[in-house]
Amino acid sequence: MHSIKKPLFGIYLHWPYCLSKCPYCDFFSHPCSAPNEDILLAGYIRDLKQMANLTNTRTLTSIFLGGGTPSLMSPSFIEKIMQAITNQFHLSEDVEITIEANPDAITLDKMRDFANLGINRLSIGVQALNDSDLLFLGRRHSVKTALTRIEEAKSVFARINMDLIYARPNQTLKQWENELQNALSLELEHYSLYQLTIEENTVFGQKNISTVDEKTAEQLYRLTDQIMTNADIPSYEVSNYAKVGEESQHNLIYWTGGNYLGIGPAAHGRIGLTASTSPKSVDKWIKEGISLEQLTPQERFEEYVLMGLRLTHTPFPTQGLSQNGIQKALKLGWITQSDNKKTITPTLDGTLMLNELILTVLS
Ligand SMILES: C[S@@+](CC[C@H](N)C(=O)[O-])C[C@H]1O[C@@H](n2cnc3c(N)ncnc32)[C@H](O)[C@@H]1O
Ligand code: SF4
Repeated sequence: MHSIKKPLFGIYLHWPYCLSKCPYCDFFSHPCSAPNEDILLAGYIRDLKQMANLTNTRTLTSIFLGGGTPSLMSPSFIEKIMQAITNQFHLSEDVEITIEANPDAITLDKMRDFANLGINRLSIGVQALNDSDLLFLGRRHSVKTALTRIEEAKSVFARINMDLIYARPNQTLKQWENELQNALSLELEHYSLYQLTIEENTVFGQKNISTVDEKTAEQLYRLTDQIMTNADIPSYEVSNYAKVGEESQHNLIYWTGGNYLGIGPAAHGRIGLTASTSPKSVDKWIKEGISLEQLTPQERFEEYVLMGLRLTHTPFPTQGLSQNGIQKALKLGWITQSDNKKTITPTLDGTLMLNELILTVLS
């Protein structure tokens, strides 16, 4: 179950560059250490102004600087972005401002600069806590560097998330358990724990790398759930675990069907039935900017179901769902239903069969 400070409204800003491209990653990002920040800034400010015309009466509850590797942005660049945002929008008093960072693309000084600019949450991509798997994942940092950055981050930020990727080829339950216990010993507020997926357009996809088999993947997921629950950092979404009250307010917007702006190349946004998209090319984005499209209520509803059932331990309204589908999912043990039948809640078995569960309740 999550805690939401309502109503949520956020800005996602996409930074499209990394120091190098990881072989598993399908996010829109290119290797580049010194891009032309002036050209990019003009694009971000244009997007912000365009979207502010539609939404600037709303109070911003979160800003998420994602990527790519946004910790590569210079503090002066972020200062200009923040200025542009505050010129256009009213920020809530407890606005959550997150930046994603790679252990090899941030320093303690930079963390302090970011915090001075109002950034109050750091999401650091560690991916593995053993050096041979970091090498396999094409990461540029060692475990030691990652742990040092986290210790430094703890001296600056009160809210930290760490990303890990598990279900790596040949990973055993015991190995993952040890790694996860090491991650928990860092005592962070939030953990994003993703099972490795092999995406077609990546080096791993082209090399036909395979992950663990289905049965091991399920065992790893159940083990993760058990370890995190025992540590009082339960799941609140399929891959996200947090201490109570430390859930990402920004990501909750996506999973609760809320409104957010998507700024920058490849970013997308939702304002009611209006969907915004931007080209997956920096040059094209600079030239063309954001396109808007109207969704049908049915399309938006299906998105809402698709995202909402990702939330764990969280009742989801049954209105608009298939009654037959609900009965079938109940029989299969994928959901529980409230006594008044107004909500369903996915069980762990249901979360493990999420795609099938969604199709069933929409059928
Ligand atoms: C947008 S990336 C940005 C993080 C940051 N650039 C980094 O690499 O540390 C967000 C997270 O998605 C996860 N991720 C990316 N590709 C993945 C894949 N193929 N399978 C599982 N997780 C993946 C990684 O944990 C990564 O940290
Ligand atoms: S995982 Fe992170 S650093 Fe690696 S390519 Fe993707 S966004 Fe860049």
